[in-house]
Amino acid sequence: MNTILFAIAAYLIGSISFAVVVSALFGLADPRTYGSKNPGATNVLRSGNKAAAALTLLGDGFKGWLAVWLAQKYGPQYGIDDIGIALVAIGVFLGHLWPVFFRFVGGKGVATALGVLLGINAWLGLATLITWLVVAYAFRYSSLAALIASVFAPFYYGLLFGTDPILLAVLAMSGLLIYRHRQNIANLMAGKESRIGSKKK
Ligand code: G3P
Repeated sequence: MNTILFAIAAYLIGSISFAVVVSALFGLADPRTYGSKNPGATNVLRSGNKAAAALTLLGDGFKGWLAVWLAQKYGPQYGIDDIGIALVAIGVFLGHLWPVFFRFVGGKGVATALGVLLGINAWLGLATLITWLVVAYAFRYSSLAALIASVFAPFYYGLLFGTDPILLAVLAMSGLLIYRHRQNIANLMAGKESRIGSKKK
């Protein structure tokens, strides 16, 4: 029962869409109405407001980290084990993808997944972040960087910790993240994907 409560709390934390909230606070257009129409940091950057994009990235990452951190710190006294941590990780990620507060129209999960991975283990998060940065620097596609980082993340987890329920959560996040990037994959293959920093259309 406690495990379910922790997972639901994580889902609610994940449902706070920082792209929408930050854009409203900055007086910017709703990111669901321009560019890729994705409520995420990459699309907020297309508004031209770097501070809003950075805050979106930090907020969406922080909520992923927070949910896992809370479960790790306060969970054990309520019987939260590795299965519970795995469900909390999935819960906050699902909240970002399908947020209850925003008619279930959410983002693609990159920043939140990164926050979750950092919460699980700093080295795991760092290795995944470095993978993202290297690909983003080399190719200047945010989506490609996310796709490649999401393929590597489960391997990093396996190398660090072996197979356990949390690995299944990492695999599920990667699978969902790739699924949410279907349009980006089509754009990349058609040579139509916009590069990091290009303005909104
Ligand atoms: O963070 C999501 C990113 O990987 C792609 O975003 O707006 O280009 O679809 P976007």
